[in-house]
Amino acid sequence: MSADLCVLGLGYIGLPTASIFATRGKKVVGVDVVPRVVETINQGKIHIQEPELDVLVRAAVHSGNLRASLKPEAAATFIVAVPTPFKATETNPKAPDLTYVESATRSIAPVLAPGNLVILESTSPVGTTEAMRDWLFDEVQKTRPDELPALRESVLFAHCPERILPGQMLKELVSNDRISGGLTPEAAEKARDLYRLFCTGEIFLTNARTAEMCKLTENASRDVGIAFANELSLICDRLDIDVWELIRLANRHPRVKILQPGPGVGGHCIAVDPWFIVDSAPELARLIRTAREVNDDKPHRVVDRVKACAGRFKQPVIACLGLAFKADIDDLRESPAVDIVAHLAQQKVGRILAVEPHVRALPKSLEGKGVELTPLDTAVSQADIVLVLVNHREFVQFNRRKLEGKAVIDTRGLWR
Ligand SMILES: NC(=O)c1ccc[n+]([C@@H]2O[C@H](COP(=O)([O-])OP(=O)(O)OC[C@H]3O[C@@H](n4cnc5c(N)ncnc54)[C@H](O)[C@@H]3O)[C@@H](O)[C@H]2O)c1
Repeated sequence: MSADLCVLGLGYIGLPTASIFATRGKKVVGVDVVPRVVETINQGKIHIQEPELDVLVRAAVHSGNLRASLKPEAAATFIVAVPTPFKATETNPKAPDLTYVESATRSIAPVLAPGNLVILESTSPVGTTEAMRDWLFDEVQKTRPDELPALRESVLFAHCPERILPGQMLKELVSNDRISGGLTPEAAEKARDLYRLFCTGEIFLTNARTAEMCKLTENASRDVGIAFANELSLICDRLDIDVWELIRLANRHPRVKILQPGPGVGGHCIAVDPWFIVDSAPELARLIRTAREVNDDKPHRVVDRVKACAGRFKQPVIACLGLAFKADIDDLRESPAVDIVAHLAQQKVGRILAVEPHVRALPKSLEGKGVELTPLDTAVSQADIVLVLVNHREFVQFNRRKLEGKAVIDTRGLWR
C-alpha cells in the first residue's frame, strides 16, 4: 500500500513536518540523499538540534508511521523541503541555486501517480512551482511517456512556504498562519486541507507565484528594516549620538517601529532570500538590493571600529563576545560574528579571545587562525577591548562592574 505522504529533504523543515504528520496518523516516508540522516531517523534519533524534536521524531518512528528512505516511494502527496541557497554565475554573484529542488522533483517521476499533490515548501524564487511542474513532466516524458497525458491532467502543484523560527520550530509549526498557493485553486485547497491536520493558525489561499513572493517579501521586509537600523547606527557613530537611545525615543512615535541594529545579518534565510527578488527584477529591486549591501557591509564597519580602537593599545587583547548568528542558539552558519572575528584574526589586530557559551569548539573557518575559545570571565578579565557581537543571555546577565577600565564596543546595545 502506498504512503499518504512522501517528504523529500529531512532537515530543519522536512523532519519536523514529516514527524508531525506521522504523529497525526499519516503514513509518511521521509527521503534524504544522505545515508547517515536516513539511518539516524530510522533509529528514532535526530541529526539536527531543535528543542523537543527528538521526542517528536521518536514518537513518529515508534508509532510505525514514519520511515526514512534514500529514494521516494509512491504516496498521495509529495512535499519538497530541500535547500535553496544562492550560487555565483557569470552574470550574478548571488543567483538562486535550484539544483536541489530540480533533482528532488525529478526523483519523484518514477513513483508519480494520477491525482497526486506535489507541494514545494522550500523558499523559492517566483516561478519555481511552475518550473517544478515542468521538470517533473519532462522527467515523466523521458521515462514513462505513455503515462504523461493522465498525469498532466490530474497531478496538482502548490507552494506552501514555511515561516518557523529555529529554536521555536515545533510550537510555530502548529500555531503560525500559513499561505497555500496553488498552480490551480483546487491545488491550493487540497494543500490547505492537508496542513489543517496539525495547523491551528489560519491558512490563506492564493496562487503559487504570490505565495513564493510572499515568503521572500517577509524576509526582505525584515532585511530592509534591519538595514535602516544598521545605517542609523553608522550615522550616529559619526555624529556622536547613542543609536540605542535614539531608536528608543523615535519608537515613542505611535506609528514608528524601528528595528535594532547589530553587527550584520546572518543565518540562511534573511541574508539569502532577498537576493531571489533582486535576481527576478534587478533593475526594480533597488531598495532590497541596497538593504542587502548595507547589512553585508556592517561587519566590515565593525572591524574598522575595532582596529581604530586597538591602535590605542600596544598589544591589544580583544574579547569577542558571541559567534552565533543570533541570541541563545548554537548555529554559527553565515554568522556575521564569525566573519568579524575571522577578519580581526586575519588582519592581526590583536590577540583574539572568542567567547561562545553554546559551542565546545571553534568553527572550521576560525581554526588555525590564532583565535582562542575562552570562557566569558577569563576573556573579559584579560581583555583591553570587549567587543559584543551577540546578545546571549549569559552576556546580558554579566556583571558590568567587571568591565571597568576596558574599552567596550557593543554592537547589540546590551550594556547601556
Ligand atoms: N531552517 C529554517 O529555519 C527555514 C525556515 C523557513 C524556510 N526554510 C527553507 O526550507 C528549505 C529547507 O531548509 P532546511 O533548513 O530544512 O535545510 P536543511 O539543509 O536543514 O535540510 C535539507 C535536507 O535536504 C536534503 N536533500 C538535498 N537534496 C535532496 C534530494 N534531492 N532529495 C532528498 N533530500 C535532499 C539534504 O541532505 C538535507 O538533509 C530551504 O529552502 C530553506 O530556505 C528554512
